[in-house]
Amino acid sequence: MDFSLSEEHVMIQQAARDFAVNECLPGVIERDEHQKFPYDQVMKLADLGFLGMMVPENDGGAGLDMISYVLAMEEISKIDASTSVCMSVNNSLVCYGLEAFGNEEQKKKYLVPLAQGKKDGELYIGAFLLSEPEAGSDATSQRTTAEDKGDHYVINGVKNWITNGNTASVYLVMAQTHPEKGSHGINTFIVEKAWPGVKVGAKENKLGIRGSDTHSISFTDVKVPKENRIGADGFGFKFAMQTLSGGRIGIASQALGLASGAMERAIAYSKERKAFGTEIKNHQIIQFKIADMATRINAARLLCLKAAWQKDNGQDYTESAAMAKVYASETAMWVTTEAVQIHGGYGYVKEYHVERMMRDAKITQIYEGTSEMQRIVISRGILK
Ligand code: CAA
Ligand code: FAD
Repeated sequence: MDFSLSEEHVMIQQAARDFAVNECLPGVIERDEHQKFPYDQVMKLADLGFLGMMVPENDGGAGLDMISYVLAMEEISKIDASTSVCMSVNNSLVCYGLEAFGNEEQKKKYLVPLAQGKKDGELYIGAFLLSEPEAGSDATSQRTTAEDKGDHYVINGVKNWITNGNTASVYLVMAQTHPEKGSHGINTFIVEKAWPGVKVGAKENKLGIRGSDTHSISFTDVKVPKENRIGADGFGFKFAMQTLSGGRIGIASQALGLASGAMERAIAYSKERKAFGTEIKNHQIIQFKIADMATRINAARLLCLKAAWQKDNGQDYTESAAMAKVYASETAMWVTTEAVQIHGGYGYVKEYHVERMMRDAKITQIYEGTSEMQRIVISRGILK
């Protein structure tokens, strides 16, 4: 067993770190406050090849492995989780879904520009539309319908909470075609935002990841050509679940980055701030908080890397991904809260960053399956 990173992995980690410090850190507080989408940052991610990291080069991607993706996600999330969620959705939900399950025409038409993150010089990213107002954790109970009309489908319904909802050009939409078949009646479609009948709702005003654009999307008699269905008739729910397993490694890495970024700030602050005649790092209770942070972060990182390694090596990673997500997200919530505590009153104001990280951490316990859903996935896997 070898825990060391390869030279290439170290280079990618460094490139992501440099990008985060030089491109994401400036303005991160203002983007959060004004809910400004990190457009320039995402355009630069495209230039770096970080929007289609695991897509093979002949499909427009960077041809890297999942370990590289975990390392890059951690570094960017240390500084800016609104940018990293956009990157995560495009890489591990949209591009992976098309790469693994799309046909050659779909890859040529959609995957290549999505992996490059640009088309005709403009930003070109995707979104993943599973959740609905009444179907979140209970994802099989899709109300959105896709009526089979022979050579095309007609989609009607509403999707909720869609990350990249307004910025994306391409949506992967899950909808029910055969309600009598339950989850086996669901299909996934590639839908272009510009098509008639697609309407983007108002932007959600959120607790955290406020730079990320989250919208509801409605579909009214949207005509979708049959060739835009992904996989065989009824494959849509399995598509969603299998794709989400990889996505959960991305969100676990985002949580890991929030935790490790907050810990770095807490350590630096504890070396500067004096109380009772000494730097607060010299008080044992602060030392033990740092020790617990480092231990939990190390465990979270190992879970993320193990799940990524299993995916890279063709092993089943569904439960490992769920374990990484639930553990890393709970670590992120705990570490960021303790980082605010170590900063005292200064932690409660925006200039010190940790209050934003605490707000951002909360979403990692909710999206791509709540912590409760991850525990269902893990326990079903163990007890089956
Ligand atoms: N791979 C393949 N098939 C799978 C699967 C997987 N990982 N998980 C489930 N399935 C199959 C099941 O085998 C079953 O098929 P059969 O009937 O042939 O056996 C079918 O799918 C239905 O599965 P379940 O009976 O297990 O379904 P359930 O209703 O009990 O729900 C659940 C299971 C794990 C809770 C699931 O619905 C779930 O993951 N919910 C959370 C939804 C979620 O993660 N949403 C995220 C939206 S995207 C997002 O959030 C992006 C973002 O923020 C950035
Ligand atoms: P519910 O499913 O209503 O759950 C409410 C509570 O009940 C939760 O604590 C849940 O864990 C618990 N619960 C439910 N069922 C059970 C059970 N059987 N046992 C125990 N506890 C249970 N979705 C997308 O499709 N695409 C996106 O891009 C996307 N981005 C998002 C971005 C943001 C900022 C947010 C807030 C959400 C996003 N989502 C997205 C939706 C997200 O995946 C859902 O919010 C999440 O899956 C939970 O669904 P829900 O909100 O309907 O909660």
